[in-house]
Amino acid sequence: MAATVNRQWRLNGFTGFDSLVLKENRIPEIGDSDVLVRWKYASLNYRDLVVSKGTYPLGALDGIVVGSDAAGEVVKIGSQVRLFEPGDRVTGIHLQTWQEGTLKAEDIGNATGGKLDGVLQEYGVVPESGLVKIPDTLDLQQGSTLTIAAITAWDSLVGLPSKRLEAGQWVLTQGSGGVSVFAIQFAKAMGAHVIATSSSQAKMDRLMELGADYVINYKEVPEWGAEAKRIANGAGVDHVIEVGGPGTLRQSLNAIKIQGVISLVGFMAVSENSNEPKLLEVLYYGCIARGVLVSSKQEFQKMNAFIDANNIKPVIDEKVFDFADVPAAYQYMWDQKHFGKLTIKIASK
Ligand SMILES: NC(=O)c1ccc[n+]([C@@H]2O[C@H](COP(=O)([O-])OP(=O)(O)OC[C@H]3O[C@@H](n4cnc5c(N)ncnc54)[C@H](OP(=O)(O)O)[C@@H]3O)[C@@H](O)[C@H]2O)c1
Repeated sequence: MAATVNRQWRLNGFTGFDSLVLKENRIPEIGDSDVLVRWKYASLNYRDLVVSKGTYPLGALDGIVVGSDAAGEVVKIGSQVRLFEPGDRVTGIHLQTWQEGTLKAEDIGNATGGKLDGVLQEYGVVPESGLVKIPDTLDLQQGSTLTIAAITAWDSLVGLPSKRLEAGQWVLTQGSGGVSVFAIQFAKAMGAHVIATSSSQAKMDRLMELGADYVINYKEVPEWGAEAKRIANGAGVDHVIEVGGPGTLRQSLNAIKIQGVISLVGFMAVSENSNEPKLLEVLYYGCIARGVLVSSKQEFQKMNAFIDANNIKPVIDEKVFDFADVPAAYQYMWDQKHFGKLTIKIASK
């Protein structure tokens, strides 16, 4: 390995995308249980944008390397590493210590691109426990999209054992961003019916091409929750992947079936009136509301096997940003110009 310099995008304050600064540091030494990864592609998540603005609810540390999703190749392994060897194609898990089972309080603080250094850098040192191999059927660009959006969609649909999505059930997704598009792909592969929403005809057409059975324009149909319930045989949908939060939850409640599950995932939509739902309303609707925070490494590996078995290809926006243009990529995503996942090419070879 000839290179010794590691270019990294780090946070310098929380003033938005101008707080992203490109720094050069030495490639760090690895410990006995560490893996040195050369990151090749990264993808952005909404959380990255709000981390830079200082409004991410779970907090982030100033000065960290930003970003959470990337895929690359193992360059070097520590003496105790057993799971990987040079040349393996890998990605990181977001909550580095959540290996399996139930989430623990301390796992929440161990988030890459939050309180731990992230992946928008040419080389990263990661404990072997914090990596998984990407699915065999995906290339590195596709493999860079899984760490947050895909696993969150997966856990929303299958993470609650008594309410795992079943064939023939109904799923409601919101918009055409990373989490929602993966949720559509997984739900269709599991044999469910999907009702999606979006704000433009062009994106609605693409969601139909991806397999959504119905798409509602949430700008033209403000009562899209009732419309989704009507479509789902009048009984309502079994699962809602709630990425909007305060501004969309009222509609999700209007759409949900009794004993259906609303997976509370995101907070993109501000509430424009005083009709914002209160938690107790879950009682009145007889539904289950469940907070989702990505998932464990064990679930990540199950999801990857599902991706391989079902030949699922992550949907990636045709615009790919260069590593030098990371702030422009953040802006493009903030403007919601993307469809599915937005990727950044870190290394050309
Ligand atoms: N809890 C977790 O573990 C977890 C994991 C991943 C993401 N999240 C959260 O989930 C949310 C989505 O993340 P993402 O990375 O998928 O975002 P994203 O790719 O940036 O999603 C953008 C899309 O969301 C749609 N959207 C925006 N406002 C909407 C509204 N009011 N109603 C319906 N759709 C709306 C738009 O779709 P159209 O352009 O089609 O209208 C927009 O293009 C974020 O809040 C993120 O922080 C949480």
